[in-house]
Amino acid sequence: MAEPILRAVNLSKRFGGLTAVNDVSLELHVGQVHALIGPNGAGKSTLTNLLSGDLKPSAGHIHYAGVDLAGMSAERISHLGLGRSYQKTNIFLAFSVFENCRLAAQSRRQRAWRIFRKASRFEDVNARARAALEAVGLASRRDAIAAALSHGEQRQLEIAMCLATEPQVLLLDEPLAGMGPQESGTIVELIRSLTAAHAIMLIEHDMDAVFAVAHRLTVMVNGEVLASGTPSEVRANEVVQQAYLGEEHGAGDV
Ligand SMILES: Nc1ncnc2c1ncn2[C@@H]1O[C@H](COP(=O)(O)OP(=O)(O)OP(=O)(O)O)[C@@H](O)[C@H]1O
Ligand SMILES: [Mg+2]
Repeated sequence: MAEPILRAVNLSKRFGGLTAVNDVSLELHVGQVHALIGPNGAGKSTLTNLLSGDLKPSAGHIHYAGVDLAGMSAERISHLGLGRSYQKTNIFLAFSVFENCRLAAQSRRQRAWRIFRKASRFEDVNARARAALEAVGLASRRDAIAAALSHGEQRQLEIAMCLATEPQVLLLDEPLAGMGPQESGTIVELIRSLTAAHAIMLIEHDMDAVFAVAHRLTVMVNGEVLASGTPSEVRANEVVQQAYLGEEHGAGDV
């Protein structure tokens, strides 16, 4: 297989006496969805926060683009091409859909801006905001106030804001949470369409969606990796079936 674009090695995060992420290693590849699954409190969001720089690891390394991201600020990591969506939506409800996206697009290019003239820099930012809204299917809602969007549309907007930063790596923390089947289907299709050009880490509890899009799966329990492999390897793993997957997605239906 080609070289991974991101390689997390022996990452740990301790909160006082609790080890939320314990010696976790994981690789992400462009063209692949790597699903991170596991029960509530397993450490999935904490691991995402370590990769995105929202939290500093207690130990370990994150190799990406020739540098170690461990300990870098979230802003720097975003500039380097890692984008993330949050488990709880992180949008400005009083602003329009387009404005939310434009602010996200701006945040990525602060440094590069200085070399542009004023007019062209706004064109660039606006174009990226428009493209991101189109990619997620929200172009027709661009002037709506974010608070007026349905829950599903707000999740779509969150992904658009992530795309507006033009990331190579997308970290999606439960993008389907609280969605109905139709909205979920739209996001699953969106994730599929983004896969060729991105490395995607998808945290999701909906196993139908996970098995529909994932190329690799990592199962976390109690902060540790219980198993990692292709969907059929993970399905066939008896420990995983007992600890997490249960009958429905276990070896029986492979
Ligand atoms: N900032 C924090 N301070 C202290 N403990 C935390 C903090 N963030 C998370 N934890 C704890 O770390 C553990 C892992 O939490 P985390 O949110 O990463 O789990 P998760 O796998 O994302 O769960 P869920 O599926 O419910 O979103 C939990 O026991 C949680 O209470
Ligand atoms: Mg979580």
